[in-house]
Order: sequence, then structure tokens, then C-alpha cells
Amino acid sequence: MNNFELINPTKILFGKGQIENLTKEIPENAKILMLYGGGSIKKNGIYNQVKKALSNFEVVEFGGIPANPEYEILLDALKVIKSENITFLLAVGGGSVIDGTKFLSAAALYKGDSPWDILANNVRTLKGMPFGTVLTLPATGSEMNSGSVITREETKEKLAMGGPGLFPVFSILDPQVVHSIPKRQLANGVTDAYTHVLEQYMTYPIGALLQDRFAESILQTLIEVAPAIIKDPSDYKAAANFMWSCTMALNGLIQKGVPNDWAVHAMGHELTALFGIDHARTLAIIAPNHYTYNFESKKEKLAQYAERVWNVTEGTTEEKAKAGIEKTRDFFQSLDIKTKLSEYTDEYEGTAEIISKRFTERGWLGLGEYQKLTPADVEKIVGMSY
Ligand code: NZQ
Ligand code: ZN
Repeated sequence: MNNFELINPTKILFGKGQIENLTKEIPENAKILMLYGGGSIKKNGIYNQVKKALSNFEVVEFGGIPANPEYEILLDALKVIKSENITFLLAVGGGSVIDGTKFLSAAALYKGDSPWDILANNVRTLKGMPFGTVLTLPATGSEMNSGSVITREETKEKLAMGGPGLFPVFSILDPQVVHSIPKRQLANGVTDAYTHVLEQYMTYPIGALLQDRFAESILQTLIEVAPAIIKDPSDYKAAANFMWSCTMALNGLIQKGVPNDWAVHAMGHELTALFGIDHARTLAIIAPNHYTYNFESKKEKLAQYAERVWNVTEGTTEEKAKAGIEKTRDFFQSLDIKTKLSEYTDEYEGTAEIISKRFTERGWLGLGEYQKLTPADVEKIVGMSY
């Protein structure tokens, strides 16, 4: 097992009715900017619950943060933070609203020339404006981690940022919010969380027995609850397990002491930036091909995964590993997620070259757990994904 440090300061309030406890978590004299997305919270009652809980606070609102939070729109929110002397941010939404809020938390205290530098130069934020979250969509784990991904439509870029100053102070996880989530987003949530686990697991054995079992148990739980949650999102037992699995998949715990990959996300983000494909779906397009391309270096973990998660007990290591890749693709497809780029766009020709060129320009020369994947490898993997 590798050496590691672990710190996660986010307080989680999990369960039915936790939204009303918001009031205890926010400093008494805070001036709050409440941030939300395109309006789903106004239809499903979450907006009213939050407003009621905040009735004793001074609250300014900023709605309209789109899926794949857009830089230009966030700059409008930054103006509000400054002109209204906001002291606390409250994200009410899914990964996009929470990520947008993290960007604002960093940008509000940033001393440099332009907030874009935080993304372009990957500035680590050591201290941001404090913020909390009310999670409305289990998927990204953003509610309990310190990372964020921001999109800039103008340049078709999607870049990551983060730092120890960007953990939410608290996050409210009430699984009852799941009841109003459309099937497409539920499938996205399962696929995103599932791939988060794979990025931290599908590498090479390093003798981290507990981390492997943690990862496998999250995958197994997601496989178990996915059909139930998609059939009936108001099934509380399924929703609670779905929600906590998504958080645990990317709150830093399972990645400690083990090699991490994250190449699937790096390539996937480019597909979102170029074509607007939902984040989770880009991962389903890339992941099986990434594992096929890197078969030799990943086959031991692929075989272990096939055996322990999918009960593939027959065959050689190679045969089990191949079955693991097939089971993964089948699982995504069972959620009605298409796994080829050409099923999302007719304009796919040339994508592999464009993405590989972008990685070269950004100096991203060593992706994956060995930091050895080159832009030429990326070109091949994306090419296999058409
Ligand atoms: O905008 P509204 O109207 O609220 O609707 C949203 C949005 O259209 C809707 N929704 C959310 N909660 C709902 C609901 N609809 C009905 N009922 C509810 N309770 O769902 C749609 C998608 O929301 P979004 O926040 O975009 O989804 P998700 O949580 O999947 O977030 C995706 C973003 O997170 C980034 C992705 O790249 C993408 O930009 N990621 C963030 C990560 C992180 N910070 O750690 C890691 C991930 O790998 C990922 O990259
Ligand atoms: Zn993801």
C-alpha cells in the first residue's frame, strides 16, 4: 500500500428531513447567496424547503446555473457576490451547481488578474469563501470533495480545479430528493459514480486489500440498487443506498494508498466540451475502450473485478479480464446508456485527432496510473470509441 494522508472536513447531514437543519450549520450573521440550476428545485418542493429553513437569514438568490456550469454565467454570480457583500454560499443542486459554487468560492477571494487563471493555470485554492450544499442529484460526489469542473462554451473547454480550501463546510443529503429525478439523470448518476470507483480501482494490484473491498462493495451496491431506483425513484431504501454510494465513490476515501487512473475522465471531459454529451455518458463511451487498450497493464485488476463483482469464476486471467470489460459495457447499456460516440453525434470523424492535439498543447503528456499514456495513445483510445 502507498503512503497517504487523509482529511475530509465536510460535515454530512444524511436522511429524511435534514434540510430543515440547514439553519444550525450556517453562521448567524451570514449574508447568503443561494445558488441553483435551471429550476427543477422550484417544481419538486426543494426550493420551498430551503427558503423556509433560511427564513431568519438574509438571502440573495442566483438561479440558472446550467448543467456543465458555464464560466460566463458564473462571472455574473461573482458580480453579485461582490456587489451584495455576500459572506456564505449555498449550493442547492447537483454536481453542476455545486461545482459552480466551488469556482465562486475560489474566485471570490482570488487575488490574481482574472478568475479564468484559476482554471487555466490549475491554481490550488487553499482558502475559499465558505459554502454548504443541499444535494439534489446523487452522482458526482462533489458534495464531499474539493474538486470542480467548469465549462467555457466560447472556447469549448472543460477544465478542472480544486484545492483543500474547497470542501463544502456541510452537505445535506436527503434521499427523498431523488423522487423527482428523471430516468436519464438517474442513469447518469449510477454511471458516473460507478466510473469514479473504476478510476481509483482499475489499475494494478498494490496489496491494498481494504481499499479494493471498499471499491468492490460500492460497485456491487450500485449494481444492486440501479434497477430499483430507475423503476421507482421514490423507493427510499434504494434512494438512500444510491445516494450514499455516489458520495462514497468520490470523497477521497477509496483513492488513498492506491494508484489512480482518471484518464477516462480526462478524455470524457473533452467529449462534453466538443459535443455537449452528458458527463456520465462520455465515461461509458471511453471506459471499456480504455480498458481494452491498456489490457496488459490492467488485466489483473480487471480479472479480480470480474470475479468479485460479477461472479465470473471460469477461465484464465485474460478471459476473466475480458469478461469484466464486457460486463461493464453491458451494465451501462442496461441503464439505457449508449456506449459509442457515433450514437451521440454524426460529426465524430476527426475527434480523436482533435483531442490528442489539445492534450499536446496543454502539455498533458502522461495520463493514467503510470503517467505514461501519451496524446498518441489518447488518439487511439478515442478512435476505438467511435
Ligand atoms: O438545473 P436543474 O433545473 O436543477 O436540473 C438539473 C439538471 O438539468 C437536474 N436535476 C438535478 N436535481 C434534480 C434534477 N431534476 C429533477 N429533480 C432533481 N432532484 O439534473 C440535470 C443535471 O444536473 P447536473 O448537476 O448537471 O448533474 P450532475 O450531478 O451529474 O453533475 C454533472 C457535472 O459535474 C461534473 C461533471 O463534469 C458535470 O459538469 N463532475 C464533477 C465532479 C466533482 N466535482 O467531483 C466529478 C465528476 O466526475 C464530474 O466531472
Ligand atoms: Zn465523473
